[in-house]
Amino acid sequence: MRPHGFWESETSMAVYEDWSTERAAQVISENRHLEGATMPILHALQETFGFVPDPAVPMIAESLNLSRAEVYGVLTFYHDFRREAPGRHVVKLCAAEACQSVGGKALAQYVEEKLGVDMGSTSPDGRVTLEPIYCLGLCACAPSALVDGQLVGRLDRDAIDEIADCFANGKSFGDA
Ligand code: FES
Repeated sequence: MRPHGFWESETSMAVYEDWSTERAAQVISENRHLEGATMPILHALQETFGFVPDPAVPMIAESLNLSRAEVYGVLTFYHDFRREAPGRHVVKLCAAEACQSVGGKALAQYVEEKLGVDMGSTSPDGRVTLEPIYCLGLCACAPSALVDGQLVGRLDRDAIDEIADCFANGKSFGDA
């Protein structure tokens, strides 16, 4: 039994496809009919590849008859969109108020030390990406995180140690 809260998320650990313009064109085509299609397309591309690289911008612009600047503006406005490929593991640490009020900041420092990666970046070995997220809806179990698609509440140093051990052993946290 884990000492902290642990929930299966609707999003299991994502296995991303390698970027390809052919596949990206397919994803864009599948979503271009949707209302306000820029956002759905960006989300679909990120779900497919784990990120939205710059070459996607002119493809989306052309498909939606928008300027590149318009698409680029949306892509860069929302920090949830990655423009570079993520690491093999993705840790999203809640940086919103309820989590901050119960020691989230100190915990974030511990995560950075333990996983060897700065907030908002990917470790040099490509093992893990650490990102802030602003409320996971688990405020009652703060501090919270999303680790390889698994929601984790009541995050503490023990849980972080466990996460780091999983990653060091090449496992996803949910496989432990
Ligand atoms: S503020 Fe962290 S889960 Fe809501």
